[in-house]
Amino acid sequence: MKVAAYAKVNFTLEVLGVRPDGYHDLRSVVVPISLADEVTLAPADEVTLEVVGCGDRGATALPDIGVDDNLAMRAARLMQRVSGRKEGVAITLEKRIPVGGGLGGGSADAAAVLNGLNEMWGLGIPKPELAILGAEIGSDVPALVLGGPVLMEGRGERVTECLVPGAVVHGAELKRKDGHVSNAPSTKHQAPSTFHLVLANPGAFCSTAEIFKAFAPHLPNRPEILYNIRLAMQAGDDAAVALALQNDLEATAVRLHPEIGVARRRLEEAGCLGVSMSGSGATVFGIVRGASEAECVARKLSEDGLWAAAVETVR
Ligand code: C5P
Repeated sequence: MKVAAYAKVNFTLEVLGVRPDGYHDLRSVVVPISLADEVTLAPADEVTLEVVGCGDRGATALPDIGVDDNLAMRAARLMQRVSGRKEGVAITLEKRIPVGGGLGGGSADAAAVLNGLNEMWGLGIPKPELAILGAEIGSDVPALVLGGPVLMEGRGERVTECLVPGAVVHGAELKRKDGHVSNAPSTKHQAPSTFHLVLANPGAFCSTAEIFKAFAPHLPNRPEILYNIRLAMQAGDDAAVALALQNDLEATAVRLHPEIGVARRRLEEAGCLGVSMSGSGATVFGIVRGASEAECVARKLSEDGLWAAAVETVR
């Protein structure tokens, strides 16, 4: 069985405070994108893992993954435990998502194994339950198990669909970060929209733990951040999405790895509507108006020596 393990970007990532267990309380809109690892699952006696076909920057970062620590193997063992099954699974990962890039690559693989084994072994575990189980593997796993644009809260373990199916946005007010108010366009068709993005990674490896450790959260509650991004996504308005992007960890990541700021400026100079960082970095992304513009910007950045990819959001 082959399963696509979609990477994600965070359209918003707010850090609300530190919890007694040392983790941070988050509120984030997590959106899967078309960049994906390919996960193949085959019946086997033991749980095994083979990593193949590492093409670009993902390949250079791969030796950093200890195979025993690999989140895909942990996901398979978790499924053995909850199902009580003794059989194993041969996992083959074709890596395309850069590791340590804030794109949730390892978590995507784990989510694909959870969803894949649930189907292959006929377990019938409902997705919201599978998502909760996934939280013990990593904070991004529940969101990627659920799939589609997700509102992620708590440490990452509380996930809900981000957009209200069938909702109609009618000329609602969009409160911008600079205090201005603009009108979101009226729209009646409410299938989730596709947004076109360019990813850029300067080659820095950001450890999530390192970024959170250096982050000092003293930010006020800003309910408009979630309100604005939801409204913009619901309206399918890429310029409004671009305005509503927010990542509280970005300033810390740029301070520790200034090359992230350079990659960000490259995307801005290339004409992206808005730019932000994904997760704890180091990948930054820009919103553009369509697939051909995304290809064009990605090509330009690649020529400048950055790892870059044109992608689109996945429902
Ligand atoms: O859960 P995950 O393995 O992705 O987290 C890696 C590290 O990032 C944690 O050990 C913790 O230091 C930090 N973290 C945090 N708050 C979160 C998620 C991660 O402090 N909500």
